[in-house]
Amino acid sequence: MRIGLTVAALAVTVAGLSACTGARPAAPSTTAPAAAGDLHKIRTVTPAWIAGLRIVNDSGNAASCRWATSYPAVPGAEALTLALRRSARTRLDDLLENRGGDGSTGACQTSDSHAELNISFSFLAASGDVVGVRLVTIQQPAAGDGVSAGTYWFDGRTRREVPATALISPQAADRLVAALSKALSGRPGVTDNDVREALAPQYRSATLRDMAFTQGGDLVVEIPRGTVAPGPVGPQRVMLSRTQVAPLLSDFGRRAQDQALHPQQRLDLSAPPVPSSSPTATPSPPNVPAVDCLHVKCVALTFDDGPGPYTASLLATLARHGARATFFVTGQNATYHADLIRQEAAAGHEIGNHSWSHPDLTRLSTRQAHDQLGRTDQAVQASIGRAPTLFRPPYGAQNAAVRAGAARPVILWSVDTQDWKYRDRVKVARTAIAQVRPGDIILMHDIHPTSVAAVPQILTTLKSRGYHFVSVSQLFGGAPLSAGTVYGDNPRAFGRN
Ligand code: NI
Repeated sequence: MRIGLTVAALAVTVAGLSACTGARPAAPSTTAPAAAGDLHKIRTVTPAWIAGLRIVNDSGNAASCRWATSYPAVPGAEALTLALRRSARTRLDDLLENRGGDGSTGACQTSDSHAELNISFSFLAASGDVVGVRLVTIQQPAAGDGVSAGTYWFDGRTRREVPATALISPQAADRLVAALSKALSGRPGVTDNDVREALAPQYRSATLRDMAFTQGGDLVVEIPRGTVAPGPVGPQRVMLSRTQVAPLLSDFGRRAQDQALHPQQRLDLSAPPVPSSSPTATPSPPNVPAVDCLHVKCVALTFDDGPGPYTASLLATLARHGARATFFVTGQNATYHADLIRQEAAAGHEIGNHSWSHPDLTRLSTRQAHDQLGRTDQAVQASIGRAPTLFRPPYGAQNAAVRAGAARPVILWSVDTQDWKYRDRVKVARTAIAQVRPGDIILMHDIHPTSVAAVPQILTTLKSRGYHFVSVSQLFGGAPLSAGTVYGDNPRAFGRN
């Protein structure tokens, strides 16, 4: 158990702990969970209008722990980006490292089963002079579902990142506490004493770190699991209606609410203008003669988890060498980097589905896993007009349910460059070159600059050895791949033996 973390560290890592707020666990309740669940839907947006918006990704797949983190970097809101990075970094450090002070050890060091950290995001607002981002963290193993969330706000007028509590006027803090206490009172598992303690001034910012508006301007406050009720009862959602919350809002809160009610389709942070990426002339697919992998040496390079800031440079390298590749993209990145997906497709590369936010799908319900693939299909479809026909599960983690749910071929790999670990151009290139055989599928990630930098060496060396660089579908030479079947290479490819 960790009990020494600062409240800023989004400290609820194990469901059921209430130590981080100081609230005592109440007696376990046998009644049904009181969490309002989907009742009050917070408003989220996909701000295609932000020039220069980037998504920052990281991922790793070690023997005993896996992680995938993502957050947006909005030009002009650097303080927000820093806060998001700090939050992701803190959680990742918790997972990876031996922690000194509090005596706990990162799950990667201790776990006998897979530990997993997943951080995904959504925009709550990104217009006017307001940006709001909600980070959702899933950490496993956990006593409950391992889910926790926090909202991060940016005030373009002061150019400051502010916590969720900044939506409320300091003078109205006590009235907010009274309204929340009233709403929580009598809920199964919730005791007035725990509520009082969790909402005491010194714990308030930790308890109220997740606040967002609905489309109708109501304020939804989600109090973390294990804070005012025992972990199994779940998080507690409270909705304050638009009229109820109006007198409590700060000036910033009013502007944030206004962007929920009457959103502008532009963001004005008085930031220095971002050079609009010159509309890259979409090149028509290069006239590469059809490659028959039954008669020439072939290899399929695959790049996962993007697209991201280094993808454009990778595309230029591939084009210079006349190489085709396959990109297994996450839906989250496909949404915010639609232009890059279009460039990938226009250059003749293949696009595969790699889930929405990169969780281990074997840990999700059938419905959640379906949602992860479906949203990604929609994102890719929206940018290139067709959904991916191939699927690669995050971490390669799959079981019968995942394979069935994928409803398309499941593509793994036969050479793992472990580029997420090395972060070393020379080592990544050497690994790929040393291990490759004809018919192989090589796993890399275009979210790492070192991986992208390794590609020229891989292409030059393997080309000199007679290899052709093809997409996954080309590697199988048009032989139909079956839905739900796992493929790691093409053993029938030329030169394989
Ligand atoms: Ni991946």
